[in-house]
Amino acid sequence: MSIIKVENLTKQFKRTKRKKGFFGAIKTLFSNEYEIKTAVHDVSFSVEKGEIVGYIGPNGAGKSTTIKTLVGILVPTSGNAEVKGIIPYQSRIENARNIGVVFGQRTQLWWDIPVVDSINLMRHMYKIQDALFEENMKIFSQVLGIDEFINTPVRQLSLGQRMRADLCVSLLHSPDILYLDEPTIGLDVVVKENIRNFIKKINKEMGTTIVLTTHDMDDIEMLCHRLIVIDKGHLMYDGDMGSLKAKYGSNERLTIITEKSDVDLKGLLALGVSEFKYNGIKADIQYETDKINAMGILEWMMQRCRVKDFSIHQVNIEEVIRKMYRELDERSKMMK
Ligand SMILES: Nc1ncnc2c1ncn2[C@@H]1O[C@H](COP(=O)(O)OP(=O)(O)OP(=O)(O)O)[C@@H](O)[C@H]1O
Ligand SMILES: [Mg+2]
Repeated sequence: MSIIKVENLTKQFKRTKRKKGFFGAIKTLFSNEYEIKTAVHDVSFSVEKGEIVGYIGPNGAGKSTTIKTLVGILVPTSGNAEVKGIIPYQSRIENARNIGVVFGQRTQLWWDIPVVDSINLMRHMYKIQDALFEENMKIFSQVLGIDEFINTPVRQLSLGQRMRADLCVSLLHSPDILYLDEPTIGLDVVVKENIRNFIKKINKEMGTTIVLTTHDMDDIEMLCHRLIVIDKGHLMYDGDMGSLKAKYGSNERLTIITEKSDVDLKGLLALGVSEFKYNGIKADIQYETDKINAMGILEWMMQRCRVKDFSIHQVNIEEVIRKMYRELDERSKMMK
């Protein structure tokens, strides 16, 4: 049974219609003209227990809006969401016991008080048993190193320290589900790595189900087996990384080192090769994987010259996502 179920979720925001210019801005303040913005449009998906799902899409796609609905902060305009059998926006407190949430852009901690006080407040609010508390704190100090800054007021923490503190507080009650909305935004590479390892660890060791939004390709590559892609409120893709690569990343490059030869590689063009460079020793060949594979090209070459070495460069996830976002953008321009 799915731990998270989202069915035909639609969320619209009513906004005051903006008027242009300085006087327009003043008029806007008193205006009662509204426009409707559909942030999430008829989105359905479900998440199984123990999954790490990347919920991705360009700016303004509707990711945070979806997360906020699952947390219970926003009420859908239509459709519904269910998290561990609870409807989050109807039973927000009950739902809160099962979830942890970190919004990378904004802290959940009390700004003026030391981290340790936020931790203690959470401990009492969630009535966390002593044994569980001790156990979790031990893990957090080991892996997140929170001891270093536990007595520092949140406002004095660096961004990386604050994010680690936020993660700690959101996981104190060992929730089954963790929502991470841009958990690595603005962090240096070492802290990013540290946080990714931590996310992996709690998923593996505690079986925590994780839904993660991010614009960081390394987060996606290192953490998410499954991706849900949303654009302008519409669900565009739901599946594993491999199929996404096959769909948008069908370009591969093969480098072949040969003994000196004068083979004309033009013959490969008819077989699905899109581009090549060859100086008589080193051949760089780009091809569409749905037309030909590396083996096919190597066989072709070996029939014509002596191959000494070769390597295949698969496209990385960054290229795949960039290509997908570009296609989404072009598609929506065509629809206008
Ligand atoms: N409270 C609100 N009132 C009005 N419009 C809103 C509100 N919250 C979000 N929106 C609009 O809904 C759309 C989706 O916003 P959302 O924050 O969900 O996007 P996102 O995918 O999280 O983007 P980003 O990657 O930039 O964080 C945007 O056009 C945004 O302007
Ligand atoms: Mg967002």
